[in-house]
Amino acid sequence: MSQRFAMTICIVQAATLVIFGLAGASALAQEPVKVGMVLEMSGAFADIGRQILDGARAYMKANGDTVAGRKIELIVKDTTGAAPDIAKRQAQQLIANDQVDFLAGFGLTPNALAAAPLATAAKTPMIVMNAATSIITTKSPYIARVSFTLPQITAPIATWAMKNGIREVYTLVSDYGPGIDAETTFKRTFEGAGGKIAGEVRVPLRNPDFSPFLQRIKDARPQAVFIFLPAGEQPVAFMKGFNERGLEKAGIRLIATGDVTEDGMIEAMGDTPLGVVTSHHYSVAHDSPQNRTFLKAFADLDNAHRPNFMAVGGWDGMAAIYEVVRRLHGKLDGDQAMNALKGLKLDSPRGPVTIDPETRDAIQTIYIRRVQKVNGKLYNVEFEQVPNFRDPSRE
Ligand code: DHB
Repeated sequence: MSQRFAMTICIVQAATLVIFGLAGASALAQEPVKVGMVLEMSGAFADIGRQILDGARAYMKANGDTVAGRKIELIVKDTTGAAPDIAKRQAQQLIANDQVDFLAGFGLTPNALAAAPLATAAKTPMIVMNAATSIITTKSPYIARVSFTLPQITAPIATWAMKNGIREVYTLVSDYGPGIDAETTFKRTFEGAGGKIAGEVRVPLRNPDFSPFLQRIKDARPQAVFIFLPAGEQPVAFMKGFNERGLEKAGIRLIATGDVTEDGMIEAMGDTPLGVVTSHHYSVAHDSPQNRTFLKAFADLDNAHRPNFMAVGGWDGMAAIYEVVRRLHGKLDGDQAMNALKGLKLDSPRGPVTIDPETRDAIQTIYIRRVQKVNGKLYNVEFEQVPNFRDPSRE
């Protein structure tokens, strides 16, 4: 073989390698980033899944579906409700079969808790878009939560109540993680400030009948009742009972976390919630350019519903995922993704959010709001705020 001929072969081989190498790399670049969404899409909590998914989809529609050269793909699984066994199986399938880069969604606490050990075993980042029991982020170092925690939204309303002449409160909460967090935090904060708990009751998560509890509260004649119920149909049923049993006429005030007067359902409650004061991290009535962008994007996608805080969780969860993919230049790795999430700042429709590098939970402003009519419709109008507020149970 002449030297010249050998050199030509070498060059051809090198060129072939480059071409195939590039082809390989571009095939890799075209693989979508898969986001496995474990969501409550049917059953009594179907509203939760729809809100979160619409929020996530609205973000993708407004911001494009490609980041760092990679398409973002959602794979949605329906847990059918608070169903930890189903959620666990679905998270496992998403990891093993679909090989997702992120687990996300999780409206309800039991579903998030069930998936946590799988995120750890597979080193798959898990973005909690709603589920709000405080302990969730302690269950896996691969969890980051963009939503809120119950202690974080409950302490400010207890403090507000005390400052505003309420001295005796009956508490009613849903009997599972978030409700117990709400009850414990309300009691600790309110009693710590000199208030008195007149009585407390926990109602079942599934199909609660509020009538006997409402009668008991009416008979106890507290100055106010504090409640936490998961957003959706239950607060509507509670408001109906509160009105029908005449608690308001008996002079009993209602205070709550913002889950109870959330934007998605408030119009179904008649005028009963008028004047109710709550604390929460998001209201549709929040006045900011970021919120206007969010509301427009949501309406472009789903004009039939008003978004609520869970839709914001879906939106911000996607914002976090997009930023991680951008920072890692599309080359995803569980540990590096978690490093990118720690300390991440989100310019959220609710206001500024930082993912606490220690707890992987949202540090954010909590607002005190009053239900008022604006242009004939009910809104949670913000009138006080506690900026940069962390979960007080983790301090
Ligand atoms: C949870 C569910 C809700 O609907 C809500 O409003 C708050 C918390 C939960 O299960 O964590």
